[in-house]
Amino acid sequence: LARNRETCLVLLAVCCFAAQSELVRYDNYHLYRVEIANQEQLNVLQHVELYGNGYVFLDSPVQSRMNVSILVPPHKLEDYRELEKNLHLRSQLATQNFQSIIDAENVPRKTKRSEGFGWEEYQSLEAIYGWLDELAAQYPSLLAVESIGRTYEGRDMKLVKLSHQAGNPGIFLEANIHAREWITSATATWVLNELLTSQDPAVQELATSYDWYILPVANPDGFHYTKTTNRLWRKNRYPHTVLCAGVDLNRNFPYHWMEGDVDSGSTTDWAHGYHNTPLSMCFEFRDNGPYGFVLPADQIIPNSEETLDALIAMLAKAKTMGYFNRT
Ligand SMILES: *[C@@H]1O[C@H](CO)[C@@H](O)[C@H](O)[C@H]1NC(C)=O
Repeated sequence: LARNRETCLVLLAVCCFAAQSELVRYDNYHLYRVEIANQEQLNVLQHVELYGNGYVFLDSPVQSRMNVSILVPPHKLEDYRELEKNLHLRSQLATQNFQSIIDAENVPRKTKRSEGFGWEEYQSLEAIYGWLDELAAQYPSLLAVESIGRTYEGRDMKLVKLSHQAGNPGIFLEANIHAREWITSATATWVLNELLTSQDPAVQELATSYDWYILPVANPDGFHYTKTTNRLWRKNRYPHTVLCAGVDLNRNFPYHWMEGDVDSGSTTDWAHGYHNTPLSMCFEFRDNGPYGFVLPADQIIPNSEETLDALIAMLAKAKTMGYFNRT
């Protein structure tokens, strides 16, 4: 027994050391795009997601008739092929080495020192927070930044409020609740920048007719962890047990939690059902190809432009439908 305990302690020490010193690698992990066509396939894939030692699911299998991206580690390739055959799964190989996708995602720009904050590369939490504070100093009559709380590891959750006039309807924009989805905070900050600087009348209209509450990084601990330790980390960093750290923040809002519907207990359900927010929605971003959410940094701006166009169209429609009429 004593010997076992000693082994255990040593292993933990090794874990912690590794966690602090280097990024987890995904060399030769194969990325498959898998079609779930029936209940049996769904059941088995849900089981594999929970217990399939080494598989990384980039999407959760929550219903039949959906596609999910799954990373298969090299030591599970045989296992996966067997599964594919037995279940008659239709799947497409998107890449044979996911590490190369990660390596290409955020190549530092050569001109880095000459420029400040921008969207040609993914930014760190410190850079995002620093930029928000600079904006608040630059636009003191329009913008306010506050911390709406502290995370488990003691980081602030910084919220920006943009308001041109009293009495506007409010829009709450939350991003990066799943730690690894860097594209979401990059897009949210880009949208904020457009709301402040765009010359496009449609964007200016959005900026002036609504109060914007933007939480660009809803999960700062997890986000930080994806930068320092594991690019594919999804949850926060709250330790459940020694072996299982992290809570999935977008599955833990107290609304129809664990009912088995698609996304039950997500923030959009919660906002809509629990807080009576008239409109709540979740954007699914690029891509369905080899990248998943490890989207190359040169797609930040195109993705953001798409999102802003969608916001303009949706808000215009919601307005004609009377959502913002005061009663
Ligand atoms: C899943 O992917 C296949 C192949 O790309 C496509 O034909 C199908 O429409 C997709 N299914 C869903 C539900 O998106």
